Amino acid sequence: MAVTYRIATLSDTSQIADCGAISMIDDELFAALYPRRHADPARFRAYFKRRARNRLTDHMTVTLVAEMDDEAAKDGKSKRIVGFAQWQKIGQAAGETRWHPLKACENRLLAMQDWLAGLFGKSGELFGLESEAAISDPEAMKAFYETYDDLDKEYWIKDGVDHERWHLQLLGVLPEARRRGIGSKLVQLGIDRARRDGCDAGLEASPLGLSMYQRQGFEIMGTYVMERLLEEDGRPILSPVLIWRNPDIKHGHPKSNSKS
Ligand SMILES: CC(C)(COP(=O)(O)OP(=O)(O)OC[C@H]1O[C@@H](n2cnc3c(N)ncnc32)[C@H](O)[C@@H]1OP(=O)(O)O)[C@@H](O)C(=O)NCCC(=O)NCCS
Repeated sequence: MAVTYRIATLSDTSQIADCGAISMIDDELFAALYPRRHADPARFRAYFKRRARNRLTDHMTVTLVAEMDDEAAKDGKSKRIVGFAQWQKIGQAAGETRWHPLKACENRLLAMQDWLAGLFGKSGELFGLESEAAISDPEAMKAFYETYDDLDKEYWIKDGVDHERWHLQLLGVLPEARRRGIGSKLVQLGIDRARRDGCDAGLEASPLGLSMYQRQGFEIMGTYVMERLLEEDGRPILSPVLIWRNPDIKHGHPKSNSKS
């Protein structure tokens, strides 16, 4: 079945949330952050919905989606999102990520909606924004943010400057649509942008994605050990940090200060 790719818009929020919640349910990092996700999948989805909205209105992030025909749709015409990738431009804004007045307005309205939801709604549910706090592990959340700060400092930031790149924040493909090249294509589209914009591409890999990224030309700079984020068997989660080096540019960084 044909798969098409495009840049997502705000009207895709719900489908991206579905896709994220289903594709990430068994991911080891999300398992550590949301230990009660199986008991309350609606709240797990709520995280992806909030995240999708944030990223869609963030002027430095581009969300790409992969769509297939939806066989369950009555008119036989509708498409269903089966995969998505959130690419963030770090450094200079690129063509797709330049600030736009409409995006700015949307952002303000959404921020106001979130504020009102917090003020009047029971955990925001009044506005369809359920809180995911009930299923998360607060200690793991804190460790996650601190860990990523440390990882950034170790791999991506040099002399206080973040390495210019397109960074893959999150990639997910529905289980039934996997192993037919959709994940690779969503990665390739990011690499194409990096090449065009004269910068590198970066990501932190999950075990399921690692070989795919390497086949796409990413190399491992090192593996960050998330000492305070544990797998179900108690071992720390490992986060390989990968870079696609743009062959058109001269490299002095990263990571001359690399630790593997
Ligand atoms: C990682 C993930 C995005 C990959 O998506 P995908 O669409 O299955 O990716 P691809 O089809 O491009 O590649 C996956 C594998 O299928 C193989 N493949 C691709 N096309 C194929 C085809 N037509 N027939 C058979 N195999 C195929 C690839 O060679 C690759 O093999 P590998 O497992 O040895 O690497 C998906 O497994 C997923 O969503 N996992 C959960 C979330 C996650 O880990 N995300 C990454 C975190 S950033």
